[in-house]
Amino acid sequence: MKFKIKSICCIGAGYVGGPTMSVIADRCPDIKVNVVDINLERINAWNSKNLEDLPIYEPGLKEIVSRCRGRNLYFSTDLENNIKNADMIFISVNTPTKTKGVGAGMASDLKWVEASARQVATYSSNHTIVVEKSTLPVRTAEVIKKILFSVESNSKADRKSFEVLSNPEFLAEGTAINDLEKPDRVLIGGESKEAMDALTRIYLNWVPKNKILHTNIWSSELAKLTANAFLAQRISSINSIAAICEATGAEVKEVSRAIGTDNRIGSKFLNSGPGFGGSCFKKDILNLVYLSKYFGLEEVSVFWESVVKLNNWHQHRISKLIVTSLFGTVTGKKICILGFAFKADTNDTRESSAINICKDLLDEGAILFINDPKVNSDQIAKDLGLLETDILNLDEGNWYFAENMDIGFDNADAVVILTEWDEYSKINWKEVSKKMRKPGWVFDSRSIISDKSLNGSELNLWRIGGGSKIKNY
Ligand code: UDX
Ligand code: ADP
Repeated sequence: MKFKIKSICCIGAGYVGGPTMSVIADRCPDIKVNVVDINLERINAWNSKNLEDLPIYEPGLKEIVSRCRGRNLYFSTDLENNIKNADMIFISVNTPTKTKGVGAGMASDLKWVEASARQVATYSSNHTIVVEKSTLPVRTAEVIKKILFSVESNSKADRKSFEVLSNPEFLAEGTAINDLEKPDRVLIGGESKEAMDALTRIYLNWVPKNKILHTNIWSSELAKLTANAFLAQRISSINSIAAICEATGAEVKEVSRAIGTDNRIGSKFLNSGPGFGGSCFKKDILNLVYLSKYFGLEEVSVFWESVVKLNNWHQHRISKLIVTSLFGTVTGKKICILGFAFKADTNDTRESSAINICKDLLDEGAILFINDPKVNSDQIAKDLGLLETDILNLDEGNWYFAENMDIGFDNADAVVILTEWDEYSKINWKEVSKKMRKPGWVFDSRSIISDKSLNGSELNLWRIGGGSKIKNY
């Protein structure tokens, strides 16, 4: 018998749940999609009249929300009723790295997943397919199953029954809508063919059949961790080569181009930058490290841990070289930071390299003027653990939110590009140079500005992986 899904509930209205459910609602007008969250402020933001106030900035998202919200897409805090009425429930809650107890600093904290499973166990009323969407350690499905199946057997009168599937999300922030609409693949792991087919039928509304892969549940969970670990490993690899380029006179962009033409290597994900950020890479690798240690695979855990260590070293390497270039001290010097998000086209700052680099510079006594087109000053204060200082009272180790870049350039000793926002590649450096204190510096950690744009500017340029030369214009 075909199990027809008429109503979906997604627990967690975050960076994964929000965009994913919006696209499902858009592509499946016959399915009612309810996104629920315990965070009222977040739900209010999803329901805000002004689409500029959605809690997540993602190109193309507001257009979809505007088409679907109130039609078959709803955001609410009513977990009970929405879980009760759902045929399929997606769990898309946060799974950050544990900060204390067993596995602290490595294993994911599953308390929100466990709480969601308990909510499903309590409120669901029928046969329900539960889909893990959050990135999770391998064998999490087992935890969810145990919680659900314990009520299943106890409450035959309610006719509660469950199937658990793993359906990891591979979207990258900034390109989430495109990734969801045209995925490289959709991965569905499970044991019940009926449940897997029900989820497959949803995706078939817009994804070609040959892109929908079925695996067992553990392979699906591990494949997600592995994909992120491989991607992160590429970034650490190219960043390690950037450091060699700076020491030897090679150009990392040329090296990337040269190796990227090898079909076996491929050209994507070879841009050297300030180090990888985002909520997934570090967390997922640390999960692999924990898993390997748990199974006594010491060498495997050391191998993967080195990817994270290199990333951390690389971030601090950048702040150190900024200090060294500015005559060994930045105390009381004004530095303009361009970009705080972990990559362009998102307002997400989780694990952004900008956090460590700015903290280092503030510790050294710099006065930072921070600009980002989508991140607000409250978020920056939270990430730095330091409140913004009023512009009239700025002193060593303080920072100010430069809503407009020009305030940041005035009398600055250095400009540091940390996020590859398009507008930063269009800056007129000749004009900026006139405003800066001399000798003025530009540190381009994303390699987005052209030599041409600096001609006649009287600035010194350091570019990531840019050979041994510091260029004077
Ligand atoms: C990643 C995975 O790509 C995605 O499949 C998964 O679902 C979630 O994790 P995300 O973290 O949103 O997505 O962004 P991604 O584009 O992968 O970038 C991660 C980090 O690597 C960013 O800080 C980015 O700036 C950096 N990066 C990426 C580079 O430094 N160089 C590159 O060439 C690519
Ligand atoms: P991700 O990037 O994985 O989507 P986010 O932190 O952006 O992570 O979103 C996760 C969301 O899940 C948050 O908005 C959080 O409030 C919500 N959440 C966590 N636990 C629960 C729960 N038990 N019930 C409902 N929502 C939850």
